[in-house]
Amino acid sequence: MAHAESYQDPGTPEEQSRRTFMVNAVLALGGVISLGLVIPLVVSLVPSADAVGNEWSPISADQWAALQKATDKPIKITFNLHEVDGYLPPADEEQFVWAVKSTDADFKAKRPELFEGADKLPYPVAYMGFTIFSPICPHLGCRYSWVDAQNKFICPCHGSEFTNIGTHIAGPAPRGLDPLPLRDVSGKAELTWIEYKQNTPDHIVLRIG
Ligand code: FES
Repeated sequence: MAHAESYQDPGTPEEQSRRTFMVNAVLALGGVISLGLVIPLVVSLVPSADAVGNEWSPISADQWAALQKATDKPIKITFNLHEVDGYLPPADEEQFVWAVKSTDADFKAKRPELFEGADKLPYPVAYMGFTIFSPICPHLGCRYSWVDAQNKFICPCHGSEFTNIGTHIAGPAPRGLDPLPLRDVSGKAELTWIEYKQNTPDHIVLRIG
């Protein structure tokens, strides 16, 4: 038995060109939508200066005084982070950061990646002679500690190691420690809490404040 051949009428030249136009229009629209998705993603790699400027947590006078007395050995600073959640009432949560004495020039020489290129942070990472580090390990988010006897930060989870100014020296972490913004308001110190995405060399913001 003969099979009927499947045949599709290609249509008149006008119909063909209308179809071509529709296909191109759909492709162009897809390109615009993709661009719309990509641009916000790129913009969110680092916080904008405005976003950082809206969220500050005070450091207590005691903790600030301790920092003034610090040497180039990092010290732990505790503070109350004001938590605002869309569902729960605002609450304060005790958090800590690491702080170290460092001059701008020293920091720039040892952590140049934070001052140039696409991953440049939009805030001073060494301010008033100090740098504040997020306590979150940039590998998978454990809390690392300063180990005095070895003169370095060590993460207990997978053994990443960092110098006193946060340069990555060993282990699986893909970048150095993340500095946080610090400012002085009439003699009172404040910092901004930023959580960056883990396990990537870039600074991609997950949360500010
Ligand atoms: Fe710190 Fe893996 S979480 S080394």
